[in-house]
Amino acid sequence: MNKRLKLGVLGSGKGSNFKAIMERIIDGKLPAEVRLVISDVPDAGILSYARDFQVPALFVNPGKFGTGLETEVEQDIVRLLQEAGVELVVLAGFMRVLKEPLLKAFPKSIINIHPSLLPKYKGLEAWKQVLEAGEKVTGCTVHYLEAAVYAGNILGQSKSEIMPDDTPAYLHACVQNTEQDPFPYM
Ligand code: GRF
Repeated sequence: MNKRLKLGVLGSGKGSNFKAIMERIIDGKLPAEVRLVISDVPDAGILSYARDFQVPALFVNPGKFGTGLETEVEQDIVRLLQEAGVELVVLAGFMRVLKEPLLKAFPKSIINIHPSLLPKYKGLEAWKQVLEAGEKVTGCTVHYLEAAVYAGNILGQSKSEIMPDDTPAYLHACVQNTEQDPFPYM
């Protein structure tokens, strides 16, 4: 049987990872379907991409917290994802820390894409931290989300070499290429 994994994608930014996921699905390389896209940013690029791909997409007002979500908002997101039949939640640049409602509703079923080789360089703008530390190699990590941020099991990592004159913006673009390459994780 040709089972397609039902995905829910959460993102706050440009949506290039979401776009890459959709392209793999359309190419027939990823046996999945995106049931719902949710963003905490009303004009995020990910919402425009979702409209282009005709995937249901919603802006959800995150509430008053800068880095998290109000509990009621997180409960709403759980309900929306469950109503859409989502089996796996993909955090593709979602800039909020998730708490119990989502973690309990989707145990071992939330994955995150982080732009460094975890466990090194957690946190925001990891590519800048990597450059400041003088590293020669960085990359990306796809990992399960657990209650402690960045603590979940690693599903895959992909490396990107750093050149001496790389700028933060250039290195970020290189790391994003590794995030969206369909092959390195296999
Ligand atoms: C990605 O580079 C990912 O590593 C980080 O957020 C970024 C999202 O980019 N978690 P985009 O919105 O998918 O373009």
